Order: sequence, then C-alpha cells, then structure tokens
Amino acid sequence: PLPKPYGVPLPLPVTARPARSDATTDYYELVQREADAQILPGLRTRVWGYDGRFPGPTIRARSGRRTVVRVTNALGAPTVTHLHGGHTPPESDGYPTDLVGPGGHRDYAFPLDQRAATLWYHDHRMDYTGPQVWRGLAGFFLVGDEEEAALPLPSGERDIPLMICDRSFGADGSMPYPASPEGPGAREAFMGGVLGDVILVNGAPWPSLGVDRARYRFRLLNASNARVYELALAPAGRLVRVGGDGGLLAAPRPADRVRLAPGERADVVVDFAAHRVGEHVELRNLLGEGPQARVMRFTVERDARDDSAIPATLSRVEPLDPARAAVTRDFEFSSGSMNGHNGWLINGKPFDARRVDARPKLGQVEVWRLTSDVAHPVHLHLSPFQVLSVGGERPAGPPEWKDTVELREAQTVEIVTRFTGYRGRYVMHCHNLEHEDMAMMSTFEVV
Ligand code: C2O
Ligand code: CU
Repeated sequence: PLPKPYGVPLPLPVTARPARSDATTDYYELVQREADAQILPGLRTRVWGYDGRFPGPTIRARSGRRTVVRVTNALGAPTVTHLHGGHTPPESDGYPTDLVGPGGHRDYAFPLDQRAATLWYHDHRMDYTGPQVWRGLAGFFLVGDEEEAALPLPSGERDIPLMICDRSFGADGSMPYPASPEGPGAREAFMGGVLGDVILVNGAPWPSLGVDRARYRFRLLNASNARVYELALAPAGRLVRVGGDGGLLAAPRPADRVRLAPGERADVVVDFAAHRVGEHVELRNLLGEGPQARVMRFTVERDARDDSAIPATLSRVEPLDPARAAVTRDFEFSSGSMNGHNGWLINGKPFDARRVDARPKLGQVEVWRLTSDVAHPVHLHLSPFQVLSVGGERPAGPPEWKDTVELREAQTVEIVTRFTGYRGRYVMHCHNLEHEDMAMMSTFEVV
C-alpha cells in the first residue's frame, strides 16, 4: 500500500558546515555511507547518502569563493561525484571513470567562477549512476552572489529547495532498484528508465508544508531517474519563474505550469497571500495519473508580514549570437545495438571513455544541433548554453542560461554555447539515468 498523501511534514535538508575556512576557500567534508532513513511511516529504509542523508546536506556557497569538498567513500562500491551545473576544472568535474574506491576519498575543488544558481551534486559512476542516485546519492549545492542577494525576492525561511524524485518501496520499506548493485547497471528491461510510484519531496512521500500568507521562493529540482513533471498549483494559481538551471532569468515569467525533465531546475515564486488562512494548495504533476499526479501540499496557516517583491528586472542575460559560432556540430540521440544488446547511443556510438567525440577550442562559440528518436533530457557539463530553436521554432521569451534541455520525441533542439574557463575532458549525456547508464554519453575535450 502506498503511504497516505500529505501525511508527513516537508523535511528541509540540513545545511553543510565547512570543516574549516581560510582567506580564499571553504573546505567541506562529506562521507558517503549507508544509513537507515525514516521515509515511510513506521518503516526503515536503507539508503546510500552523503553523510548518510537523502537528500545530502545542502552546500551554500558564494560565487567566486573557492569551495573544496572532500568526499570519502564509506560504501561498498566505487563512486564519483559531479557538481551538476558547475563551471568546474576537469579533474574535479566527476568524469565517470574518475572513481573513488571503497575507503578512498577525493577532493573536488570548485572555483565557482559563475553566477548564482541552484546546482546539485550527485553520483556519476559509469554504468551505475541510475542505481546509485536512486539509493540516495544526491544533494543541493546553492550558489549565491551579490546581484541575487540585492534583490527583494523571498529569502531565508521563505527560500526553500524542493528535490522531487520518484521511488518504489518494498513492503518492508526497502527501496530496491531493479538491477542488483554489482549486476548490470541498467538492464534492457528498463530501457525507458526506472520509475517509482511514490513521489518524494526532499526525501519524504507527498509531504505537506505550513506556510504564511506571503511569497515563497521554491527551488524546484527534478532529481528523478527518468520521470518528467509538469508542475502546477491546485486550485490553479500562478507560478512566477525567476530562475532556471543557470540562475536568474532576465525578467520574471509568470506561468500556470512548469515542466521539468530529469536534471532540470526552476526557481519559482508563489504568493500564498492569494489564499485565506486554512486553505490548502496542492502542487500537482499534470503528467502523472492517480497518486503520481500529486507532489506535495501547502497549508496556509497564518497572516504574516511580507517585505519581498518580484522585481520587473532580475538580471542581465546577454544573448549569445549564433552568428559568432565557429562550428556547428550534430548529435543524434537514439537507441541502437551495442555488443549484441540494446542500448542508447549518440551518433550511433556507445560511451567509451577512451574516445573523444568533439574538440571545441577554449573560448569558442559553437552551435550544437541535438536530435532525438524518443524523449531525452540532454545535459552538457562545464558549459552553460542558450536554446536557439526547438523543433525549428525559436523559444518564446528572452534567452536564459541552461545546462539541461529536454528533447521531445523526434525533435531537433539547437543550442549555442561558449567553452570558457578550462581545457580538458568533459561529458555530454542523456540525464535519463538509465539511458546514461546504457551508454548515452559522449566525451568532448576543450582544447
Ligand atoms: Cu547531473 Cu552528468 O549529470
Ligand atoms: Cu535519453
């Protein structure tokens, strides 16, 4: 039986404290280990978590301030950590074969030479990202900066990260992944991706949150292996999107729904002053049916003072001009056979860490044309991009910075990006984690 919706309070992930700090750098230490979590009422669930927590501790960092995270692996399997959305030197980017064995550790150094944004960190082990993230290896990493801090957006207790992911549970509370830990990372039976029937927010099933009659900023993250959400309020209300994967938008964008494919983020402001004390507001998933159509519920509990506002101008987002592109590259995302079984390929090839598929020059602007067979959320490491066209049409509204873009079925999406900062090896891949584990990943090397 599924847990009762809205029966548990929304947990807030703990904030990580630096182990030490010096003039330039904050040093954090996280230990990946197994732990028993209380997810379903009365049952214990074995998870793999950073510090034994699912979601892991939230790291709150400042743009331009170096952050070093030592990750110690106290699990029985190799791991590697990637900061999703980080503008990170290659040796700290969590290349899928840069593995840390059981008992080992690695220092990931993030210069954070990038604007404020909602990032997240998660496991990235080649062939096993799906099971290892499913077990719980994911957390928020929030980068702030002065520009954002100067805005009157809701902040403090009214700035809440929401990690949304689906899981399935055994009757004993276990959270089994369809493949065994050391068996194949993902099997053909799960070609489409692994879905769960319980929607978790910050690790709790369909939780509820008491709110003031005031504006809140929610940092929505789809951390699911394969599920896509279209989030909307019920009763219908406005979600004002103020940020995306790559930080603030140029201007707020009111919407009645926000679509998020795996890996994508949206920062939205919701004003509960539109409701009376005692009213409930649900966050629903328009793409789900039955229980999977629910996500969480807010209960408006009290009148409160609200000094926040949504300014008409949030930031500057310079359009990146595709006419400056030195190269246009084509990448086709499709299924195909690899070593006699079915897998997911890019330009007909499965991931191979010994092969480099593109060599963009440092500083160069490039257009990448991405084409799908079925839907694939495509994520580019290192280099934030702007979407130029989706199915041949310009997207509505001014450009925004993204790091993950959903290709719908049989669609072409063109992006423009500029490779800055670091030379070295990075990956681009599908963020449906089973597709990624079934080889839909490609290496590019900035030269
Ligand atoms: Cu969020 Cu390469 O991953
Ligand atoms: Cu895919």
